[in-house]
Amino acid sequence: MKPIPVGIIGCGKIFGAYAGGCGGFDIIKVVACADLNRAAAEAKAQEFNVPKVCSVEELLADPEIEIVINLTVPQAHAPLNLQALAAGKHVYTEKPFAVTRKEAKAVLAAAKKAKRRVGSAPDTFLGGGIQTCRKLIDDGAIGQPVAAVAFMMCPGHESWHPSPAFYYQRGGGPMLDMGPYYLTALVNLLGPIRRVTGSAKISFPERTITSQPLAGTKINVEVPTHYAGVMDFANGVVGTVIMSFDVTGHTLPNIQIYGSAGTLWVPDPNTFKGPVKLKLRGENEWREVPLTHSDAVGRGIGVADLAYALQSNRDHRAHGALAYHVLDAMQAFQEASEKGQHIKLTSTCDRPAPLPVGLPAGTL
Ligand SMILES: NC(=O)c1ccc[n+]([C@@H]2O[C@H](COP(=O)([O-])OP(=O)(O)OC[C@H]3O[C@@H](n4cnc5c(N)ncnc54)[C@H](O)[C@@H]3O)[C@@H](O)[C@H]2O)c1
Repeated sequence: MKPIPVGIIGCGKIFGAYAGGCGGFDIIKVVACADLNRAAAEAKAQEFNVPKVCSVEELLADPEIEIVINLTVPQAHAPLNLQALAAGKHVYTEKPFAVTRKEAKAVLAAAKKAKRRVGSAPDTFLGGGIQTCRKLIDDGAIGQPVAAVAFMMCPGHESWHPSPAFYYQRGGGPMLDMGPYYLTALVNLLGPIRRVTGSAKISFPERTITSQPLAGTKINVEVPTHYAGVMDFANGVVGTVIMSFDVTGHTLPNIQIYGSAGTLWVPDPNTFKGPVKLKLRGENEWREVPLTHSDAVGRGIGVADLAYALQSNRDHRAHGALAYHVLDAMQAFQEASEKGQHIKLTSTCDRPAPLPVGLPAGTL
């Protein structure tokens, strides 16, 4: 099998996770990388043995490259994805899928017209932890799901990220940044969302970077940094969500799903791992459930799945319609807060196919 050549645009903090994760799959090979900052691309190419460094234009014009991975900052996602599709490439982009629904729709339409695939992060729902949860729910382990919670609260990213301003600009904020992990996991487990409501606010209009090299620099906060919401799923499940960059510490779970026969403790959806825990009706203790799927995977599994999908002409799992639906829901929380009402979603999507049990390592 000849690997599908992949080019990466955006050589920042998350680059290494993709270079490493893609390396676990023989079906894809990272052959080139590009960044507005040439020195950043050169440094990552050297560190991760990428054979070619070039400009964005050269990468998109390279006839060898079939899939472009877009690891730029949120506001550049849709514009670059449109450029890559126009150049005849399949695209896999970091989250959020786009900054607005309008931009996201343009990307989906361009892909359809060009007969090219669009995939989007997160792909963490393809890890062993959440695939095990999917199997438990589909097998009826907790009976009929009735409610769910999803909590991501932290003090923000200015204490560790080298250039954290984008997290507080249009396209940033905890909902567009971390919401994709939580909402994608929930849609994968429970199906599409019907409507949402909630409150969103900016708690601190100015923040100070404490990480290097920009320590002391102030950031003006342009987007809400605390969201509390409710989402009704099409299957009747009522979900409660908090996404916040304004909380120092807390003791709430990442995700739990409450069913007629028991509760499922879903692991952190920003990882590919467990633990998965169950507490069934009548049981006094939580018990950890052995994973049914491999957790020895990383970012890049969504790209590898896209490559397998291209070769066997099947749907890929981290697909554009899923990413659009999640973006639609995430945008609706702020709109609901501003309007003081529920927002009915106009989008929907199919749950991605579960991964089969017992796949050999490095295959999908
Ligand atoms: N850092 C993380 O832990 C992490 C984790 C998961 C996902 N992500 C997502 O990955 C994306 C990138 O995050 P990061 O932390 O690597 O950011 P970063 O700021 O470290 O790197 C982004 C890189 O993209 C380049 N870039 C920006 N616009 C460009 C353009 N138009 N053309 C070419 N290059 C361009 C920048 O020069 C920079 O080198 C974001 O969408 C983020 O949400 C980051």
